[in-house]
Amino acid sequence: MRFWSTAERIRPWASGKSLGKRPGSNRAAFFSPAETLLLEIHNIYKHFGGIHAVEDASFTIEQGSITGLIGPNGAGKTTLFNVIAGLYPADSGRVLFGGQDITGFAPHDLFAKGVLRTFQIAHEFSSLSVRENLMVVPGRQLGERLLDTWLRPARVKAEEITIGQRADEVIDFLQLNPVATELAGNLSGGQKKLLELGRTMMAEPKIVFLDEVGAGVNRTLLRTIGDSILRLNREQGYTFCMIEHDMDFISRLCDPVIVMASGSVLAKGTAQEVMNNEAVIEAYLGTGRKHARERVT
Ligand SMILES: Nc1ncnc2c1ncn2[C@@H]1O[C@H](COP(=O)(O)OP(=O)(O)OP(=O)(O)O)[C@@H](O)[C@H]1O
Ligand SMILES: [Mg+2]
Repeated sequence: MRFWSTAERIRPWASGKSLGKRPGSNRAAFFSPAETLLLEIHNIYKHFGGIHAVEDASFTIEQGSITGLIGPNGAGKTTLFNVIAGLYPADSGRVLFGGQDITGFAPHDLFAKGVLRTFQIAHEFSSLSVRENLMVVPGRQLGERLLDTWLRPARVKAEEITIGQRADEVIDFLQLNPVATELAGNLSGGQKKLLELGRTMMAEPKIVFLDEVGAGVNRTLLRTIGDSILRLNREQGYTFCMIEHDMDFISRLCDPVIVMASGSVLAKGTAQEVMNNEAVIEAYLGTGRKHARERVT
């Protein structure tokens, strides 16, 4: 089953330039070679009153990767997602997508570009069914305009059928069939997370930001979610950036893993590399004890 061709999704967006470390910045920048870059985060700052939630955060996300974003509670991970996704304006810094500056773009403009996020706490429409929750996602539906429903009823109907078919494909893909007609408000926490993932699939994303998609999810459903993410990445070419605390989940899915602490980026590497990194262990535990590394979560 294919939703959209990989060729549509994977585009040679090489900007041909590596912006590197900005003059005046005293923090390391974690950049990848320019030719496969999809998203670049340059020196983002965001404060709330006296709290410096994000402080000079810089890193890049490669096309086709599943990039993990980990860090202790309060490290600034969700705030950074909110800045990237246009929910909070950055105090300073830039976000580039496919080489284009998208800093401060509104969520609906990012949606149109294929930059989507899910929330730490799922945002489903609780009084709509699972299938309806999926069907309301695609933007600019003809049927939403009153005149079109009067003047072009056949086209409106045809569009509704196409969207319904896509919703059914997403339901199949995520194995949500048993709850397809259930009100979303009645789903378990894990099923709501799957539905969030499904809602991003309806929107033809180029990159999906997942905020703790595994939090509060039982092990069986977590495996289903993990498998779905891997298949979307490998078969459909989706790029993911995911915040997660579960290191088993991160190790299975993510390469590279970026570690944030106190608002900035501390390390980037494979899951194993960052788990063995003294500075990372220090950030999590406040000690450099090597034997504690297994407890880095
Ligand atoms: N809207 C807000 N107003 C005030 N302070 C905020 C706001 N959002 C986040 N913060 C603060 O910014 C800091 C970073 O929070 P953030 O939620 O980004 O961390 P996080 O890494 O996502 O943590 P967690 O792993 O617990 O979800 C914290 O000190 C938090 O209390
Ligand atoms: Mg968070």
